[in-house]
This record gives sequence, C-alpha cells and structure tokens, in this order.
Amino acid sequence: MSAPTPQPSLGVCYYPEHWTDSQSESQSEAQWKDDAAAMVAAGITWVRIGEFCWSRIEATPGEFTWGWLDRAVEILAAAGLKIVMCTPTATPPKWVVDKMPDMIAIDASGAPRKFGSRRHYSFAHQGYLQECKRITKAVAERYGAHPAVHAWQTDNEYGCHDTAISYCQAAQYGFQQWLADRYQTITALNNAWGNVFWSMEYTDFDQIELPNLTVTEANPAHAMDFRRFNTDLVVAFNRAQVDIIRQHSPDRPISHNFMGDFNQFDHRPVAADLEIAAWDSYPLGMLQNMQLNARLDETLHRDCLRTGDPDFQAFHHDLYRGMGRLWVMEQQPGPVNWARTNVIPADGAVRMWSWEAIAHGAEVVSYFRWRQAPFAQEQMHAGLNLRDGTPAVGLAEASQVAQELATLPLPATTRADIALVHDYQADWMSELDGQTEDYHYLRLILDMYRAVRQHGGSLDVLGPNDDLSGYKLILLPGLMHVNANLAAQLNNSDAVILAGPRSGAKTETFQLPENLAPGPLQDIVGFTATRIDALPAKFPIEAEWNGITGTISIWHERGVATAETTGATALGDPILVTSNHGRYLTGWPDEALLRGIIGDSMQAAGILLHEMPRYLRLRRRGGYLICTNYGPDPAEIPQSITGTFHIGGRVVPPAGVSVIETD
Ligand code: GAL
Repeated sequence: MSAPTPQPSLGVCYYPEHWTDSQSESQSEAQWKDDAAAMVAAGITWVRIGEFCWSRIEATPGEFTWGWLDRAVEILAAAGLKIVMCTPTATPPKWVVDKMPDMIAIDASGAPRKFGSRRHYSFAHQGYLQECKRITKAVAERYGAHPAVHAWQTDNEYGCHDTAISYCQAAQYGFQQWLADRYQTITALNNAWGNVFWSMEYTDFDQIELPNLTVTEANPAHAMDFRRFNTDLVVAFNRAQVDIIRQHSPDRPISHNFMGDFNQFDHRPVAADLEIAAWDSYPLGMLQNMQLNARLDETLHRDCLRTGDPDFQAFHHDLYRGMGRLWVMEQQPGPVNWARTNVIPADGAVRMWSWEAIAHGAEVVSYFRWRQAPFAQEQMHAGLNLRDGTPAVGLAEASQVAQELATLPLPATTRADIALVHDYQADWMSELDGQTEDYHYLRLILDMYRAVRQHGGSLDVLGPNDDLSGYKLILLPGLMHVNANLAAQLNNSDAVILAGPRSGAKTETFQLPENLAPGPLQDIVGFTATRIDALPAKFPIEAEWNGITGTISIWHERGVATAETTGATALGDPILVTSNHGRYLTGWPDEALLRGIIGDSMQAAGILLHEMPRYLRLRRRGGYLICTNYGPDPAEIPQSITGTFHIGGRVVPPAGVSVIETD
C-alpha cells in the first residue's frame, strides 16, 4: 500500500479520545474535524492513533464500543490523512489486571509494578499474551482493510519505564524451560556458566531461580542468559501481534516505536519481524538523562542544553535504519515533562531535529503530540498546539519543514563508507562485568561515532551478524564478544578495521577467551591484552599520540603487541597498535586524541576528511549533504565542501540547517 518513496513526509500523534465532549458527540466530532483540517494545513500527512485507548474501546470484557473510533477514523480519512493504527496493549485496563493479577510485572527488588500508569504487564505471562492477541485481532479485523489505514504500530515502546524484564513466577517458569531447550542437559549448563565456582551447581533445571536478590552479584552468565530469554519473550509477544495484523491487514507495513539509549532487550530480532524500525526521539530529555552517565562533557551540556547532544539522535537514526525502514514515530515538539530538567528548545531546534532525521533516511517524522494534554501525567509536556488550541512554536517549525520538503525532492539514502558495529549483547556484558562503574558502552560508542562526524564522515550502524562487505572502515568499539561469523568476515575484509578497547574480551557463554582478549581479533590487530586498568573517570592518565596531547580515562589495556605501536600514556604504555589492516585502540581516549586517531584511520581507509567546527555536523543523503548546527554560535561549513546550497548558506546559524547538493 504505502511503498517507500525517497521523499520524506511528516506525521503527528493524535488522541481523539482525549478530546471528546461528554455533553455532545457532535461537539467532539467538530473538534476532530478542526484538528484534521489544521494538520493538513500544516503539511502533515500521517496521523498515529489508538495506542492507549483500550479502556475506551472495551470498557468491560467483550463489549466493544467502536463508534467513536470509527467516526474519528472517518474524519481523519476524509481530510486525506494516512493513519498509523496501533494496538493498545501497552495499557491494559483495570479489568484485565483484576482478572489475572499475576500478569503484573515484578521488579528486581521483588516489588509489583502496580496499575495506575502504563506498561504494567509481564512479557512472560501467557494469559496476558492471549488477551493481547484477542484485542489485536479485534482492532485488526475492524480497521485492517480500511483504505485510510496505511501502517501499523505494535504496542508502544517495549520496555519503557524499565518494563522489559520481570522477575515474576511466569518468568521463572519460562526461563527454566528456555534453559532446558538451550542446554539440553544440566551438566552442559553448569559447565557453560562455570557453576563449580562457589558451589552453584544445579542437578535439575527446575532448581534455577531468576538472577535477582542474590547476596552479592549473580553469576553473570546466569544474568546474561536471563537477558537473552527476555529478548525472546519480547520477540514472541511482538510476533503474535504481527501475525494477526498481517492476516487482517495485508500489505500494510508494521512498525514498533523503539526508544533511544535502551538496552533491556536486543532490538534486532524484534525489528526483523517488522518493516519499519521506528524510534522516539527526544533530544533534550535524552541529553539530561545521558548526563547521568560518566563523561558527558559539562561544556557540551551547557552549549547544547537547548539543542541536544549533536550525535545522540544521529546515532539512533543510523542504528534503526540498520534494522528496517527508518521512521521517527515521536519527535520532541517543545519541552518534555519527564527528564531531570525540562528546558525550552532553541528556536529552530524542532526543524533542525526533523531535518537531521531526514538526513539519515527517515521516511516519516511524526511529532508527539498534536495538542498538549489538559490532564493526567503529561500535562507539562508540549504539543504542536497549546492546551487551548493555540499553535505552539513547534507547529510553525514543523510546517516550515513541510514547505521545504514540498519544494526540494531528495535522493534516497545510500550506504556510507564507514560501518560501526553495535551489539546489545556487548552492552549487557559491559553492564554485568563493568570493572569500573564509569564504563558505559553507549557512551564509548557515541564518543567514537562523534569523532567520525567531527571529520564530516557518515556512518552506518550494523549488528554483529550483518554483512560488512564493501565498507572502507569498520569500527568495533567495546564489542565484547566477537562471534565466529563476524571474525571470519573481518579476516576476509579489505577494510581498515579499528577495534577496541574491550573488544573480543568474552566468549559467548561469558567466559574469558582461552587465548586472552581480544580473542578472535588477536591476529587481525596484533595485540593481546594482559592487564586491565579500570579507572575512575575523574582521574584520567595523560597521554600523547602523534603530537596530540590528551588523556586516556576509564579504561586502558596493557599487553603484548606484535605489530607497530604508536602513542603512549604517561605510564609508558602504547595507545594504538597498527597491524596490516587491523588496528587496536588500547584505551578510551578523550575527544582530542580520539579525533586524531579516528581521522588517521579514515585517511588510511581512503576517506576524505572535512574539519568540522565542534558542534556542526553533516550527513550525506545521496548527492546531498545536510548540515545541522547544535552549537550556540554560527558555524561555518568547511571550504573543502562545495556545491549548490538549496537551503541555508555556508554559515549555519545556531539550530540552523543547510542543504547542499555536492559537486
Ligand atoms: C514516549 C511515549 C509517549 C509519551 C512520550 C512523552 O516515551 O511513547 O507515549 O509518553 O514519551 O515524551
């Protein structure tokens, strides 16, 4: 139905059920009509509905009230809007919970996640899964063939509010079955986990409990398998809905809206069952929350307070584009309500975020939400309109994007020269065996990703099982486990490979590799790690590389190099090992050093460098470069970039955008 076209479009999240007039039905419908007309006038073509409306379509078991939703769908359709219909399974009504109270998720401390907000369910509960299938079937039967329904969304933000993992009875039972399937014999499990250490051996699968509430940390291999099991639960939950939707609504693409900086389950196998890998982009909220992690620079925090981290959104666009057709299902429209602090975006930021998503290949950018909610939890969260219907600042910026898109046909996004391999399992391994509490996988990845972009590079973010052929430079930061297929691909690759720190440091069953880290990468990079210096972030070690002085912090590996070494820490240990086509970064360098080292690897791979001002970024989309300025001052696009400016000019104002068709 909606075949992907290169030309992106805009959407909005809408809640007709929030705008019903209890006195008069015709009043509610008049409001919906006005809203639909205003959406169209603003240049919006998609509208997402239904993800939280279960209590309004089925207030009591089995008694459906479709009338209001039918009319809302007709009104949106009549205005010419394309509908993304959602399944409402993120918000089971009270009667569902009362029918089976044990569907409630249990947190790691053993406390129930009670009714009264949302996502109060355990993915492991088979009774709730049946309820979800039933309500999904009801919605899909009713609207699946409707000509205005052009796409679907399953549930809403799997795992939001820490809900991907539940320590409930159903999870324990399911986990035991899962382990029995995986290991077949209890001896195989004991060996894989190393249970002889501390007499943790089992004699039967039904003795195994969940890895919470242990005296000190649980065996990391146990915790790791529990995370794998949880991923399989999310996959099965999502697939159950997908199968039903496909049956009743063939040919409509199905999406799920994933979240940024979220690692409680592996997103790739979930996305494999979908056409669209959407995510919800809240740059300012995420800047505040990422600030909790080690090493987010104070200066950047201040300078980008109203624009967001210049690389966080971009990275996630690349991450999800690597899993499917990229959409931003929820785009921050103004201040949010849920971060540590909630500031007003810089003038122009909503437009700039939209353009950045488009630069990275987004088919649709959909704003959250049409009008600010007058009640309940998110009343302080902006919409494109104020509570009284007055247009908010975000609406004008969204309309500007719509007008710009209407006059500027864009080419499709093409593959980048640089691949960064990202792996959810590496993230879990880093959390379960951090060695310094300041080690943070996503922070390390973002630092490397940032260094590429500071040289004007564009990247693709790939998973550990993806095809790496054709890339000129492959980055493997913190990739704790390197699987056999990936190792073989790297061995046969002509690309420059930059691994480390902390790559190849664990086997699949969470043990140290027999040949030491970086395990299967040793021959490629010419380095074996023998000692790990896991440091507090606030006490970095001074270091020098190729005339650049800086620091190494949080992580540094000492070891045996069988290839050329360059740079040194103040303690005399090398920073980079360079073999034929493989390189190993022994530690976590600061911004200046990393920029130098990454630039050198890009040059070695034959990639042209552009020296970008600190907060200016670009992303290639076919023959176009789209530049975004996250900084507080105007920034000049380097003279090494030439072409025709379609939007903006060489000097990009704060929160500004320039679009250049390159020569
Ligand atoms: C998202 C969620 C939305 C809304 C939004 C507010 O995480 O999917 O339903 O809560 O945050 O920013």
